[in-house]
Formats: sequence, structure tokens, C-alpha cells
Amino acid sequence: MAKDLADNSETDRKGPGHVAVIMDGNGRWAQQRGRPRLFGHHAGAKRVREIVNACPDLGVKYLTIFAFSTENWKRTQTEVAGLMRLFRRYIEREARDLLREGVRVRFIGDRMKLDEKLVSLMDNLELLTSGNDRVHLTIALNYGGRDEVTRAAQRLAYEVEQGRLSYKDVDAETLSKFLDTHVLPDPDLVIRTSGEARISNFLLWQSAYAEYEFVDTLWPDFSAGEFGKIVGRYGVRERRFGAVLA
Ligand code: FPP
Repeated sequence: MAKDLADNSETDRKGPGHVAVIMDGNGRWAQQRGRPRLFGHHAGAKRVREIVNACPDLGVKYLTIFAFSTENWKRTQTEVAGLMRLFRRYIEREARDLLREGVRVRFIGDRMKLDEKLVSLMDNLELLTSGNDRVHLTIALNYGGRDEVTRAAQRLAYEVEQGRLSYKDVDAETLSKFLDTHVLPDPDLVIRTSGEARISNFLLWQSAYAEYEFVDTLWPDFSAGEFGKIVGRYGVRERRFGAVLA
């Protein structure tokens, strides 16, 4: 069914090759059930698998998900520690299936603040799945758009200082090469769940021309069917990238 919804052949318009998702609403989902917030995050993690699996049939080659922001450290120590444990367990448990399903996993964000064990699991999963090409799953972990651009600017400035680059060569394309996402295409569509209409520092540079979809569903309730409908809707929109089409 999801395939039909995303089939844009009649309108001759392409679906979104790269979808980015702000997975919001885990905490409220848990609270509605009288459970701790981490219960919602665990339910949210299960949805990740379903959405990743739906991608190939929908023509979504790249999926980028916001798992932990540079601002999320402000949450309680219990929640942060629980999320970090959840990420470790997710990688340990899902690695084999991700490899088998042809998913190439990458992580974006600043790894310096993450614990060594988690970083080594992330590195290993990237390496393990590096030969895959069916779906490219990018997990944003300790990620912030401003932080990413700042880190890129620092590295760029260093190259200039070392004399390997002239300030005259600094343009948008050069800067893009220093971003965490340098190997990824820009997202075509950004979805945020849970009724909030904010972008919360997610892929600020890369989403300059993206379409946005804000849906009320809380992330743990976000199904592959709803994902397919949104992806299908995208196909009938027209994107002009600032130009006037004939
Ligand atoms: C936002 O909901 C969600 C997060 C900060 C964490 C996202 C994490 C997951 C979906 C779980 C696992 C992900 C992976 C990759 C294994 P919220 O807590 O802000 O919800 P609220 O707005 O209702 O409080």
C-alpha cells in the first residue's frame, strides 16, 4: 500500500530521496500512560526499525533521524543516562539486522562528549555496514545544526591558517564539504511528529530548500502507513528552489 501512495509516475514528479525526521513526543506518549519518559523512548526506538524498513518501497534512499540534540544534555541525569544506554543497546541488538537488510548506518554530531564505549559501537557499526547501499540511515547523536556549522568553520579556518586553503576559496560548496553530512544529499522533506512546528536546530544548513511536514502523531505512534502517506503527498508538490518555473 505504501508503495502505491508514493508512486508519482503519473504526475512525473519524483518522491523525496532523502527524508529527515525529528522524532518528537516520546515523553508525552509515556506520560499519557502513566509511565516514565524512558518507556516512551524505548517505544520510539521500536518505531525506528519500522520506518527504516519502509524506506526502500517508498523510494526513500536516505533517512536521517534526530536521536539526541546538543541541547538534550539539559534533561535529567536519569533520562540522559537512560537514552545513552538505549543507544548502546540499539546498536548492539540491531547491528546484525541492519547489515542483513542492506542498511548503511552513519552518525552525525559531535562524538567528543559521548562515552568511549558508545563511540566505539558507533564506529564499528559504520564500518560493518559501509558496504551497504539499499538504505542510508543517518543517526544524529549529540547533533546541533549551529554546532555542526561552527565545527565546520573551525576546521575550515584551520585549513586557511595552515595555508592549504585561501579565504577566497571559501564558498557554500567548500563549507558543505566540512559539514558532518558532506557525503549526503540535502534532505528533500523534513517531518516532525507530535504537533510542534519547530526545527530545533536540526540540519539548518542542509534544509534550506526542504519541504516541512508537521504531524500531530506522537513518535511512538508514527506508523509506516502514515510515513508512506506523507512521502506520497510530497510527490505532488512543486519545488522551485527560488526559481520561477516555465
Ligand atoms: C523527543 O521526544 C525524543 C528524543 C529526545 C529522543 C529520540 C530517541 C528515540 C526515538 C529513541 C531511540 C532512537 C534510536 C536511534 C535508537 P521527547 O522526549 O522530547 O518527547 P516530549 O516532547 O513528549 O517530551
